[in-house]
Amino acid sequence: MKLSETQKKFVEDLLGKMTLEEKVGQLNQDSPSIVGGFDVPFEELIEMLTDGRISQEEFGKIMATAERDFHEDDIRAGMVGSVMGNDPVKANELQKIAVEETRLGIPLLMGFDVIHGLRSVFPIAIAEAGTFDDDLMERTAQMAAKESRAYGINWNFAPMLDVARDSRWGRVSEGPGEDPFLASKFARAKIKGLQNNNDSVDSYVAACTKHYVAYSACEAGRDYNTTSMSTSQLYNVYLPTFKAAMEEGACSAMASFNDLNGVPCTVNSYTLRDILKGEFGLEGFVVSDANGIRECVTHGIAEDDVDAGIMALNAGLDMDMGTRIFYNHIAQAVKDGKVSMETLDDAVRRILSVKVWLGLFENPYVPQEAIEAYKANLPKEHIALCEEAAEKSIVLLKNEDKLLPLNKTDKFTLVGELADRPDEVVGAWSLAWEKDDCVSIKAGLENANANFEYYPVCGPEGEINAEELKLAIESDSDIVVAVVGEYTSMSGEASSKADITLPGHQQEMLKKLVAAGKKVVAVLMNGRPLALGWEAEKLPAILEGWHLGIQMGTAITKVLFGEVNPSGKLSSTFSSVNGQEPMYYNHPNTGRPGSKSKFTSKYLDAPIEPCFPFGYGLSYTTFEYSDLKLTENKDEIIASFTLKNTGNVAGTEVAQLYMQDVTASLVRPVRELKNYERVQLNPGESKQLTLSLRKCDMGFYNNDAKYVCEDGLFRIYVGGNSKDTMEEEIRIKF
Ligand code: GLC
Repeated sequence: MKLSETQKKFVEDLLGKMTLEEKVGQLNQDSPSIVGGFDVPFEELIEMLTDGRISQEEFGKIMATAERDFHEDDIRAGMVGSVMGNDPVKANELQKIAVEETRLGIPLLMGFDVIHGLRSVFPIAIAEAGTFDDDLMERTAQMAAKESRAYGINWNFAPMLDVARDSRWGRVSEGPGEDPFLASKFARAKIKGLQNNNDSVDSYVAACTKHYVAYSACEAGRDYNTTSMSTSQLYNVYLPTFKAAMEEGACSAMASFNDLNGVPCTVNSYTLRDILKGEFGLEGFVVSDANGIRECVTHGIAEDDVDAGIMALNAGLDMDMGTRIFYNHIAQAVKDGKVSMETLDDAVRRILSVKVWLGLFENPYVPQEAIEAYKANLPKEHIALCEEAAEKSIVLLKNEDKLLPLNKTDKFTLVGELADRPDEVVGAWSLAWEKDDCVSIKAGLENANANFEYYPVCGPEGEINAEELKLAIESDSDIVVAVVGEYTSMSGEASSKADITLPGHQQEMLKKLVAAGKKVVAVLMNGRPLALGWEAEKLPAILEGWHLGIQMGTAITKVLFGEVNPSGKLSSTFSSVNGQEPMYYNHPNTGRPGSKSKFTSKYLDAPIEPCFPFGYGLSYTTFEYSDLKLTENKDEIIASFTLKNTGNVAGTEVAQLYMQDVTASLVRPVRELKNYERVQLNPGESKQLTLSLRKCDMGFYNNDAKYVCEDGLFRIYVGGNSKDTMEEEIRIKF
């Protein structure tokens, strides 16, 4: 986000005209209140949803018809800076009040969660990051921005940039995986895609990087739980994605719920002012997460709402999402000298700067033609991009005896409730999808005229249907495609799980099918990495399908029949059993790395190795790496190697380069991803490739938060995942 001198002057002039109350109004991110339309109080409705008296679907139906109060009078009084919502007609109505009925006509920011697409729903981030395709990640963000504007949204609460290492945490599904390097490339691509303001005014939005910071390090993988870590870990693992996003000019950030080393991130001036605004140079603003300011009282860091509000604003938190604490108390706090006018002006200036950068003063409304564009069917290029992203996100985890791809004419049996659930392909944080846009796996197979019988048999909840299982076993095809995994509601916010094996009786169903002599191809629909120890050992073929978005059925079908050769890789490690979590590849070596000998770092009752490592993914062809050579120039190390397609179909491989700083002033990970490239090769074709590693990227942050590059021995690894690699050593003097 860069403002011209003229724009900066506009902001200063406007700020100079504002009253104290109008300034405070800009800090208020308002949510419409639910005022009825159903016969129980809203709080009771939430309780009914939580304790299962009503289903998610029933709740959604009730909410769709609920009456909402958008607090028009507060907007008219200039006491609202931003509203949450995704209805373009309502957005124009509220914007009209702000622009035409307030004293200064300051337009509203319309914020909404667009995490992996709006109506065109793309794969969940953990899946899309696994494409290792920066260009694709940027293009899907650009399309999400364009759709957002058409729905009246000009501020996306995205990208979610939480590097996550513990798959018990439900929000691992929303983020770009466990590796800071890959996640930082994801961050850059998303900011460029969302904030691409070199196009027309209605095709870019303000991004909001979240959740700042280290929210994903919650103890025991339990959402909202406490986090604590060294300065070096904060800087080397959890801050890099936000640093990268700020370097791309991200407009805003959202403070996270967690306390970090004893200070909630909502009131943490070290992370907000010193690091994010100081060191990383955020020019926009920071918004709290929902209710985050009030929760500082619950954290035990603030006496009451007033105390929490003053603490937050003084710590560098500029906008209050959903509590109205700033709205109610900051004007008095300024009069009492508890918040300086300079602090208040800084917050307001940052918010106004984003509004000016978005062009809202010139173009505050959603053009009618943009609204019309999404009333009917999705434009075909939207559907095509959803399909491309879905296809590239699929990871082939196992394929014994080349069971896959299936022959299109061969008959097979399809089982699993999830196969016929178009509403379950979208994944967590999909809030504006249309069921008719969604292609289930069963529908995808039907569209391709596949030859199969379908028996639901079992889903992530509920018992096995014995009759349907019997029919599936008695069917005359020996191949069973079993779609198993998680409901969308089993990952995302407030969805931590202690047991991350296949939920319900799905594994039992698989065991019965295997026992009956069936060749079972498992197609996973899940939001988090699952503990797949049994499946990886006993099933001949496994496709990781994640929640791929509206074109999931089309993409899975094309991969099952070999029209698309899978190229996805894992952006997160998969454990074999729950107890191995948190499990990630870029760990320190320890003094006793796990091995067969007793007194080493391992479990008595679980394997040392992961089930599937970071960066892993098979293809319908095979690739061979050879001839790794390292050369060095002033600025970088260059790894040259040969990659050959040794199979009989074309395929795309993600060649990966890792490094190890063998001896340093702090123990360093055994491997760290430092570069990658997607390479398309025809059967028998080989290519001489190079992957470079900039010397300035070979350092790390120490516990003084100082980035250091230390002379010494480095190992360079090149391969198709984080485990099976070629390696060479090199001594570097920086
Ligand atoms: C939620 C989430 C955050 C989201 C916000 C607004 O609690 O933590 O990711 O953007 O509220 O919906």
